[in-house]
Amino acid sequence: MSADVSVQIRFDVNGTGQDLRVDPERRLVDLLREDLDMTGTKESCAVGVCGACSVLVDGELLSACLIPAVMVDGRSITTIEGIAGPNGELSAMQEAFIVEGGLQCGACTPGQVVAATALLREQPDPSDAEIRDWMAGNLCRCTGYAGIIRAIRSAAAPG
Ligand code: FES
Ligand code: FES
Repeated sequence: MSADVSVQIRFDVNGTGQDLRVDPERRLVDLLREDLDMTGTKESCAVGVCGACSVLVDGELLSACLIPAVMVDGRSITTIEGIAGPNGELSAMQEAFIVEGGLQCGACTPGQVVAATALLREQPDPSDAEIRDWMAGNLCRCTGYAGIIRAIRSAAAPG
C-alpha cells in the first residue's frame, strides 16, 4: 500500500472558493479541466510554448500546463470561463474576437482572449508593436494573427 502524498489546497477560481486534495505532481491544467470540469482552458503543446492554457493567477498571465496545482494554494485564478460576465454575457474582448475575425478553429482562442485581457489590464491603449510583443507567447495555426491584432486594437478603443 502506498502512502497518500496528496496535499490539501484552497484557492479561488473565477470568484468561487475551492478546497481540494491534489497530488503534488498534478498540473493546474488537469485540475481545471478534469477535476473542476472547466474545459475552456485548452492544452496543446504541454511545454509552455503555445499559450493555449493561459490563465491568470493573482492577475499574472501564466501557462497552466507548467504550474503544479499545489502552487495555487491561497491564490485566485481567472480562466476563460471567468472572462465572460456572470450570466455568460461576452466581454468586450470576446465580442471583438468574433467581430474582427480573431478566430477560426478556436483551439487557441481561450488562451488568446485571456492573454489579450491581461494585456489591456496592464496597458489599456497598446500600440500594434506592444500587442504583437505581448501576444508572442500565444500561437495560432489558423488566422495569420491579423484578426487577433484587430480584435485587441478594437477592444482597446471601442467604436
Ligand atoms: S499547452 Fe500550455 S503553453 Fe502550450
Ligand atoms: S484559430 Fe485555430 S489555432 Fe488559432
